[in-house]
Amino acid sequence: MLTSNPPIIPPAPPIHPKDLHPIRLLFESIHNSLAIWPDYAFDGPFSRNSLFGVETVLINDPTGVHHMMVTNASNYVRPAMMARIMRPLIGQGLFLAEGEEWRRQRRLLSSSFTPHNVNILLPHFIAAANDLVRQLDERESANLSKAYQSAALNAVLRALFSMPEQRERDRLGYLVTQYITGPGRPQILDGFAKTDTSFPFTLGKRRAFQRKWNAVVDDVIATRRSAPHDAENRDMLDLLIATHDEKTQQPLAPTEIRDQCATMIFAGYETTARLLFWASYLLTLDQGEQARVADEVNAFPPERVATLGDLEHWPRLRAVLLEALRLYPPVPLLVREPIDDDVIMGETVKRGVQVYISPWVLHRHRKHWQHPTAFIPDRFEGKSAPWTAGGAYLPFGAGPRICIGAVFALAEAQIMLATVLKRYTLAIKSKRPVIPVGRLTIQPSYPPIFKLERAKP
Ligand code: HEM
Repeated sequence: MLTSNPPIIPPAPPIHPKDLHPIRLLFESIHNSLAIWPDYAFDGPFSRNSLFGVETVLINDPTGVHHMMVTNASNYVRPAMMARIMRPLIGQGLFLAEGEEWRRQRRLLSSSFTPHNVNILLPHFIAAANDLVRQLDERESANLSKAYQSAALNAVLRALFSMPEQRERDRLGYLVTQYITGPGRPQILDGFAKTDTSFPFTLGKRRAFQRKWNAVVDDVIATRRSAPHDAENRDMLDLLIATHDEKTQQPLAPTEIRDQCATMIFAGYETTARLLFWASYLLTLDQGEQARVADEVNAFPPERVATLGDLEHWPRLRAVLLEALRLYPPVPLLVREPIDDDVIMGETVKRGVQVYISPWVLHRHRKHWQHPTAFIPDRFEGKSAPWTAGGAYLPFGAGPRICIGAVFALAEAQIMLATVLKRYTLAIKSKRPVIPVGRLTIQPSYPPIFKLERAKP
């Protein structure tokens, strides 16, 4: 399985020999949630902890994950804290829906994410990738972390609304960032809230943001609906407008279309941007691997991609992205609360505790992976959708609530990275390691400057 000898071990925060003291645990949870795990978590199936009276359970084994996310998934809901933070951005959209309402929305939206419909979106990904290299062409070096954020936002907004205007995209991007770094930052009282409307005196700024954000997204949708539209050049808004409930024959209401669009922007752009960043970073650490991927994309250039099937010309690129998702899963922690007491692998899990699944820990688990901390894309060679296999690989979650946008995200990431690697060889001058930092997503400890050397045509 090893491609380079010795294997490349990319940076990670240190692992503590035992559980952290509660004060240190609180500090690390806020500053880098990847740095809270003790050594034994990377060997065992299950662990319990408690932080200021909130009991937490880590499920760290494929059997337990399957029980919680698949067999007994209806017993687990997203915690109130998550709804409090995300509701102003994504309203009543799929991510926060529960129960029968979630089933209805998932059924309706699934039709927009079929491979046939993702094919419709590929020209938008190609256009966004071309915009990215056009911007990079003026430079010899770049902050790719920032560039990928803007490119992934461009891709999702083009895919949703065929939105080519930079100014409009910047306006939406600015608002999302303003929210995440402002009123959307978790507060201590969020952790103690029983519902998403508890402690209403803390919610004023979030509600004000929600009014502004909804008005802006409504405005974008209204502009796009009134503009002349090329029937050949379709987008996700077309698909959502065409969606009808099979049972009632009703179309989606305008507010529902808005909330679903906002959900896709929120769930789809930061995650894919992080994947692109970490995959690029890993390729700077392994120049041999980078050259192999470059050969592949030179043999089948991105502008020839017309269907998802064409992406099969790049198996090595896909394996690199899958390995980047393993080492640096953009969503490092999945959190649920049981509605009723449950028993997972013989352990009682009481109603009200916080149940964690950490793709970060599970992807580096010593019993489930060979050389768990090493960068070895070979391990995914020939495995096209390993996240559906039900093992210890969960970059997109698992079970009925698995990421609806996985095919969308990987298609976008393949096209984006292929376009960059066809044009440039990437390197980083600084020897300072980039440490992954766990927040809502896995971010770099600092944004390294990538050297962009024009690849020979
Ligand atoms: C590399 C990129 C992405 C990663 C790593 C990722 C990861 C995830 C994960 C782990 C979940 C499950 C969360 C949980 O169970 O608590 C999820 C759910 C979801 N994702 Fe993604 N995602 C990505 C891209 C996208 C894109 C591009 C879209 C849409 C355009 C999207 C839309 C969603 C939605 C709507 C859900 C909620 C599904 C539900 O609850 O039924 N994601 N994603």
